[in-house]
Amino acid sequence: MKDKKYLFGNWKMYLDFDKSLALANSLVDISKNLSQNINMVVFPSALALRAVAQTLQSSSISVGSQNAHWIEEGGYTGEVSAAMCKAVGAEYVLAGHSERRHLFHETNHEVRQRVDGILSVGLTPVICVGETEHEKQENKTEEVIETQIRSAFHNIVWPEGKELIIAYEPVWAVGTGLACDPLEAERVHEIIKKQVVSLTNVTPVILYGGSVKAENILGYMNNPSIDGVLVGGASANLESWSAIAKALE
Ligand code: PGA
Repeated sequence: MKDKKYLFGNWKMYLDFDKSLALANSLVDISKNLSQNINMVVFPSALALRAVAQTLQSSSISVGSQNAHWIEEGGYTGEVSAAMCKAVGAEYVLAGHSERRHLFHETNHEVRQRVDGILSVGLTPVICVGETEHEKQENKTEEVIETQIRSAFHNIVWPEGKELIIAYEPVWAVGTGLACDPLEAERVHEIIKKQVVSLTNVTPVILYGGSVKAENILGYMNNPSIDGVLVGGASANLESWSAIAKALE
């Protein structure tokens, strides 16, 4: 039995402002029946952050941003800073989500800068790592993840008392319906935990992400090194998200 379970929902670019607000309003009801040991966080689009945060203010659900730039303000057209996310109620920020890394070519160095920027304004980064299908076939999972983690923590002094959250999201499992075998996820989580402790002296919270749904969530949560899940597609829909929350209770 875990003390705390993490249920994070990344709405990606699935929901426009009105749909985000409608889902947030429904979540207020869901939160009333949510057991106290579930830490639920949703990540709407930047456009909807403020409205969703305000709607969820009266609930136990927190809000995060899907991304943030490390510079506070300036001539960076199209970007949103971590400080701006904080100002509208975000408490968490995803850093290095696989879609950012692979569709938008974000490098390990940029992910590190994001982590730094997020921490500098007092928010909590959710650092996402994971190997591609090709890297997995070449038996490079450990190597890739160790490099991503080493780089993300390079010259970072982890603030005392700040929760350290990593999401292991194999790229081939994200948005594909091909969820990772739970025992393989557990194996990788153990490797991540060891590495993070040796780099920072902090025991991380590690979430699994990639095609999680109500039917498979317990297969992950029953493993000791899997503290929770980061859900994409199934979090952007009231029915599937409620089913996931229910399965976790
Ligand atoms: P998925 O996405 O649940 O749709 O596979 C996971 C994620 O992007 O965090």
